[in-house]
Amino acid sequence: MAVRSRPELFDFHGVSMVNYFTDNWEDVQKFKARPDDILIATYPKAGTTWVSQIVDLLYFGKTLPERKDSIPIHERVPFLETSFPGLPRGTELADSMTSSPRVIKTHFPVQFVPKSFWEQNSRVIYMARNAKDNAVSYFHFDRMNFVEPEPGDWPSFLQRFKKGDVVFGSWYDHVKNWWEKKEINSNILYMFYEDLAEDTDREINRICSFLGISPSKEERDYVRGQVDFNTMKNNRMANYSTISVMDFKISPFMRKGKVGDWKNHFTVAQNEDFDEDYQKNMANTTLHFKTEI
Ligand code: PPS
Repeated sequence: MAVRSRPELFDFHGVSMVNYFTDNWEDVQKFKARPDDILIATYPKAGTTWVSQIVDLLYFGKTLPERKDSIPIHERVPFLETSFPGLPRGTELADSMTSSPRVIKTHFPVQFVPKSFWEQNSRVIYMARNAKDNAVSYFHFDRMNFVEPEPGDWPSFLQRFKKGDVVFGSWYDHVKNWWEKKEINSNILYMFYEDLAEDTDREINRICSFLGISPSKEERDYVRGQVDFNTMKNNRMANYSTISVMDFKISPFMRKGKVGDWKNHFTVAQNEDFDEDYQKNMANTTLHFKTEI
């Protein structure tokens, strides 16, 4: 897929989107989830690939050991809403999966998730990342990924991020609405990137409890080693280097993998301005984030 012209952002049911994630809307909405499906839901750049690799290895690292060495993460964990020219759609990839359970990725805000996931009581792992690091990661991703709109410079990107004028809309709406959904749905595990960075073993244990699986200590340690940042960065089946629309010379997909990199990007004035806006947007939620660990 040789794409070099950037897509336009447009309003889609109240959320900023690009056509690559809306063109297959009807089929996505009709998608037939299964009770044992595991949906990994995130705002873009919140650590989707990290959780995906953990869950995939927990299930298949031992039973299908060759899988992780030969199939890229975006095929092991299909991205549900995608529709890229010349590539199988996310729904087609998910429908054709023979391994069980299916682990499926989405960046949809909660109101866009196909209803069959709720009807089937599929389990959902939602991963959230603090807004500042999330914005920085998203900026660098949009610079290097040609299926994203042109990000412009950092100050202008940050303004648009605050307003939700980025693909998949407002970070605030995304994290808050999923948080509210989690309060009423015990099939959702709400995780934080910062917690996973702070204590990966503890968070892998939380995932295992939620999924009702009991891998041995040896298996957990194996998964822990495989999902270390540098190991994933050097793993072609996990680092997105097989995707042609991304230019790693501009910025690699596995960029820094840190909590607190925002401090290297925000000016003092940008930080004050962001904090003020953040307080207003987060006043009506019990959701709290760490911006450093
Ligand atoms: S995407 O495109 O939305 O699916 O991207 P996503 O995977 O959600 O987010 C990419 C960021 O997650 C970092 N990452 C990790 N951090 C720590 N440890 C591990 N193993 C790991 N894997 C991915 C990745 O580096 C991106 O963050 P930044 O801050 O840009 O480095």
